[in-house]
Amino acid sequence: MPRSATVRHYVMCPPTEFTVDYAINPWMDTSVAVDPARAMQQWRVLHQTYLDLGHTVEVMDPEPGLPDMVFAANGALVIGARALQARFAFPQRRDEAHAHARFLEATGVEVHEPVARNEGEGDFLVVGQLVLAGVGPRTEKDAHAEAEAVFGRQVLSLELVDPRFYHLDTCLGVLDDETIAYYPPAFSFASRTALERHFPDAVIADESDADVLGLNFVSDGRNVVLADRATGLADQLSARGYLPLPLDLSELVKAGGNVKCCTLERYP
Ligand code: ARG
Repeated sequence: MPRSATVRHYVMCPPTEFTVDYAINPWMDTSVAVDPARAMQQWRVLHQTYLDLGHTVEVMDPEPGLPDMVFAANGALVIGARALQARFAFPQRRDEAHAHARFLEATGVEVHEPVARNEGEGDFLVVGQLVLAGVGPRTEKDAHAEAEAVFGRQVLSLELVDPRFYHLDTCLGVLDDETIAYYPPAFSFASRTALERHFPDAVIADESDADVLGLNFVSDGRNVVLADRATGLADQLSARGYLPLPLDLSELVKAGGNVKCCTLERYP
């Protein structure tokens, strides 16, 4: 079945400040060298890919001393003219939330300050009218009720149980308004059951795709930008009528992020 794309609105932040100087997830190893020029080159390819697809991309200015700011997805959840600002679990990333709030407010968005910890679109993903929300090492359950109150949308809480998949967007990706792809072992039994009930037609990824952060993809409903190493997932997507666009973000993977982490979507 051929799929159709819709024009998207993204926010990105270049990896000017990118390093791995601290380790706050199992992917980060401060003894592994990062190549900053290569990270920038890989990020530029991602940025250009979105522009070539006809999407709008706003670029935020990176701030000194915030090496993870390239992972723009974590700064907020933005739907329409409202945003729920992030409240990061680790002090190293706390100031990113304020940079995002300032940026969004300057574009006319009403930004809500959170009470509970949440890491923006790392743990909140929109599927049609539903919001999927991860609860785990970063986002607290109470944040889900806050999102429900701010946006007036139903939120489905999903419990993350594997430390490698510390954000929802590391083990679940949204393909279109009805379809998701995910890696079941990253979720508690109850959450897996909920996912099966809500999404009987989901694409089920295996460990080899999850392990290269293949589920951390960005889809416009047809084109799916994903890790080039997630070849099994790409084949499954092709078989379902999506168009996989593989690319290499291996420098950013050293901090535990891939395509989606670098991309905040301003959902309509
Ligand atoms: N080093 C970052 C952290 O651990 C990576 C964030 C990845 N972002 C994401 N949306 N999963 O917080």
